[in-house]
Amino acid sequence: MKFSKILIQWYLQNKRDLPWRNSTNPYTIWLSEIMLQQTRVAQGLPYFLRFTEAFPTVFDLANATEEEVLKFWQGLGYYSRARNLHKTAKEVAFERNGEFPKNYADLLKLKGVGEYTAAAIASFAYNENVPVVDGNVFRVLSRYFDVETDIASTGAKKEFTALAQELMPKGKANIFNQAIMEFGALQCVPKNPDCQNCVFNDSCLALQKKKVAQLPVKSKKLKVRPRFFNYLVFSDEDNNTLLHKRTQKGIWHNLYEFPLLETELEENEQAILELIQNQKFVTNDIEEIILYNPQTIIHKLSHQHLNIKFWKIKTQGKLENGINWESAKKMPFPIVIYNFIEKDWF
Ligand code: ADE
Repeated sequence: MKFSKILIQWYLQNKRDLPWRNSTNPYTIWLSEIMLQQTRVAQGLPYFLRFTEAFPTVFDLANATEEEVLKFWQGLGYYSRARNLHKTAKEVAFERNGEFPKNYADLLKLKGVGEYTAAAIASFAYNENVPVVDGNVFRVLSRYFDVETDIASTGAKKEFTALAQELMPKGKANIFNQAIMEFGALQCVPKNPDCQNCVFNDSCLALQKKKVAQLPVKSKKLKVRPRFFNYLVFSDEDNNTLLHKRTQKGIWHNLYEFPLLETELEENEQAILELIQNQKFVTNDIEEIILYNPQTIIHKLSHQHLNIKFWKIKTQGKLENGINWESAKKMPFPIVIYNFIEKDWF
């Protein structure tokens, strides 16, 4: 039997019931695909449900504030996705009367919509014959056909797209694309796949050649950079604190955080106190400084490991621009700061 036929049969018997699969609404599909980039289904699903309840149409999303959108996104990471999502919602709602582009080439022109997402929307919403190529697809095809091309190389995307295009039965883009991704997510998993119980175990080349663990080939990732963040949790005589919005480009753009003192290495209480005074974070006198987390929190991002310490700094008098905790808690934060606040250490 042909690859695509076996694959689709497997899919119909094994697929998960996921809410975006019951829809051909491009808004719903777009939302789910942006959310599921770099995110597992189990983690993304509750966000998807909350998002679609809060913003059932592209107009609802477009009319929300960026802060509201970021608050709903809080914890999902890669926040540029949320900001682009919001910008694109405005473009679709206000410049296109709420209508998403109707084909792959036009979908690609939307902000934050790359080849993968455009192909997903075009095939799931309109059944256009374009293959999706994500990490799952690279893995399934490289193993089944024993393709040793480095999937991080420039030509890889083109090569695997052409292969998927060839395999895809015309008129069945929707189900074929869902099936190959689901097969990669459930059966042809990165580590220790159960090849003995696999519908392809008599035809998979990697299995025949005992190369399953070596495929796909992927060159080493960029080096991870360690950074040392000291968050200054000020507290004045009214128990107010200070927050600031990260406006610079890079991680956590437009999210809120405590005043940040970044150092080259981990520093002790005395050094931190001196730096706070030298850099004049506040004009108030400091009564005491206490480290909240003796165990440094290590927050891993794709290319950086953040070593985070929260310092409680009691000041005399009132802080200029102090904010009370009830108001502070409503702001959108990076999840590591939100978790700290929620611990009720105050
Ligand atoms: N991951 C990314 N897109 C997906 C989809 N449509 N279904 C399941 N998992 C996914």
